[in-house]
Amino acid sequence: MHSNINLLIEPDYAAMSRKAAEVFAEALRERPEGVFGFATGGTPEGMYENLIRMHRENGLDFSKMNAFNLDEYYPIKQNDSQSYYYFMREKLFSHVNVSPGHTHIPNGEASDPAAECAAYDREIETYGGVDLQILGIGANGHIGFNEPSESFTSRTNYVALTEITVQSNSRFFESLEQVPRHALTMGIRPIMMSGQIMLLCSGASKAEI
Ligand code: PGA
Repeated sequence: MHSNINLLIEPDYAAMSRKAAEVFAEALRERPEGVFGFATGGTPEGMYENLIRMHRENGLDFSKMNAFNLDEYYPIKQNDSQSYYYFMREKLFSHVNVSPGHTHIPNGEASDPAAECAAYDREIETYGGVDLQILGIGANGHIGFNEPSESFTSRTNYVALTEITVQSNSRFFESLEQVPRHALTMGIRPIMMSGQIMLLCSGASKAEI
């Protein structure tokens, strides 16, 4: 179990994003072949912008890194502009020298979502678990698509989105009806098995949670 929690408070979103990128870059330099867990959503975008800059300006090297993303909508086509596959490509992967075969995101096009989740868990285990997992947190406390009531032992699973999550994520879609109602999400267990977790949280709406 994780026993050390370091709470870093930065003056604003830009400073948080820079600090998060520094922490990530240090871990990547220490462990270029490490397993890094990525998150989507508005929160890590600034961190990804900083990582792209560090790649361009300082040659931060992603070529040996292995990436596992937290979650994906279901069903969704990879090339749908709302998919997390698309998000990662646009916001980070296509701008740095990550090896295409080294990125893993639950497949929103899989015919059997439960089997896809079990295979994803096995794949994470094959790599020895995640070394550094980046997390956001929802205004209601969700982690990935794990709602706060989820057990700490939950494995990667196929979940129905709660109404509050559908509504919150609808800001990225043209209409509420377009938001997928299900998702594939890394479970709390594989998340908690990570060597280190960096949870990013910004904004007054999340102060309470
Ligand atoms: P956000 O989402 O970064 O877009 O606020 C976080 C989350 O819901 O996990």
